[in-house]
Amino acid sequence: MKTIIQKVNPECFGDGELEKACDILKGGGLVAFPTETVYGLGGDALSPEAAHKIYEAKGRPSDNPLIVHIADMDSLYDVAGQIGKKAVALAEAFWPGPLTMIFPKRAKVPVSTTGGLDTVAVRMPVHPVAAALIRCSGIYIAAPSANTSGRPSPTKAEHVIEDMDGRVDMILDGGPVGIGIESTIVDMTEETPIILRPGYITKENMEKIIGAVDIDPAVLTEPKKDVAAKAPGMKYRHYAPKGKLAIVEGDSMKVIEKINMLVREREREGKKAAVIAAKESREFYRCSEVYCIGSRKNEGSIAAGLYDILRQMDHIGAEYIYAESFAEDTLGQAIMNRMLKAAGYNRIKV
Ligand code: TXA
Ligand code: MG
Repeated sequence: MKTIIQKVNPECFGDGELEKACDILKGGGLVAFPTETVYGLGGDALSPEAAHKIYEAKGRPSDNPLIVHIADMDSLYDVAGQIGKKAVALAEAFWPGPLTMIFPKRAKVPVSTTGGLDTVAVRMPVHPVAAALIRCSGIYIAAPSANTSGRPSPTKAEHVIEDMDGRVDMILDGGPVGIGIESTIVDMTEETPIILRPGYITKENMEKIIGAVDIDPAVLTEPKKDVAAKAPGMKYRHYAPKGKLAIVEGDSMKVIEKINMLVREREREGKKAAVIAAKESREFYRCSEVYCIGSRKNEGSIAAGLYDILRQMDHIGAEYIYAESFAEDTLGQAIMNRMLKAAGYNRIKV
């Protein structure tokens, strides 16, 4: 398949520029597009054939449900049921934006889209290209992240091209995304909503609006093999670079010392090692491959840089990767959730 790659300037474009993309979507094809979190791989959410194509293009197990992207509140009532006051309050506060809510699904949403579940995950993105694409195509867009299953999610069109060229009909290149990690997912089917995947919208943000919100224990600890994951996607190894990644935790000077020691050991074995460090500590590493993920003073910069750095580790052929750890509160929780999954929960405490 020849993939059309089209540039769109998110700050300045006309709906007419999306005509081809809309035609592809309405015809059951696949279009990758930018959202504020990561790039999505879109298809018609009400078409089982489109869902199959998405799973095939990603190489994703078909029991892992897709998020349905909408552009207005009427659409929410059209695809989901039992939408309570808390959900409406969260939608008013955070939509359009990086929040995904789970509800019982309506019959029109095929189980191919929901991975066989009777619930549906819904999100209203704020990115102008994503919003215009949904509005102009007139469909609901099912979209997982536009990466090959298991790889880091794409935060630039180049990442999408790397994974999806020749596998999808079109890639809309809207430049780098703003947030860089996927939306917060909250299960609204329980009396007390439960965060299944942390993201830019934090537990504290939501509690200010609706009171108590729980966090699924699988968010920061390794999911138990015999317990079914609430978000099926969270049970798979994810976001992973090809090299062996370890997260080194503890007092910052000790972390630096330990990483320098590990790098020295690997290099003595003739292996290629790399370090992922914050801006504040990068100068303390004695390693030729030190990558700066962002500043500890600005967690947003770390989130935005994370997946690009994990992909760069593959490009340089790093066999061993040692990363500093980050605070597990607010946005740091989402960052650590992704890093721990990428590392297969390989943490070294010093
Ligand atoms: O920011 C995002 O959410 C991006 C952009 C493109 O919108 N999308 C995204 O989709 O990250 P994906 O498919 O890579 O991750 C969706 C996660 C998976 O872990 C999946 O298991 C979970 O959402 N999920 C989807 N529907 C669900 C449901 N009905 N119940 C529980 N978990 C669900
Ligand atoms: Mg994904």
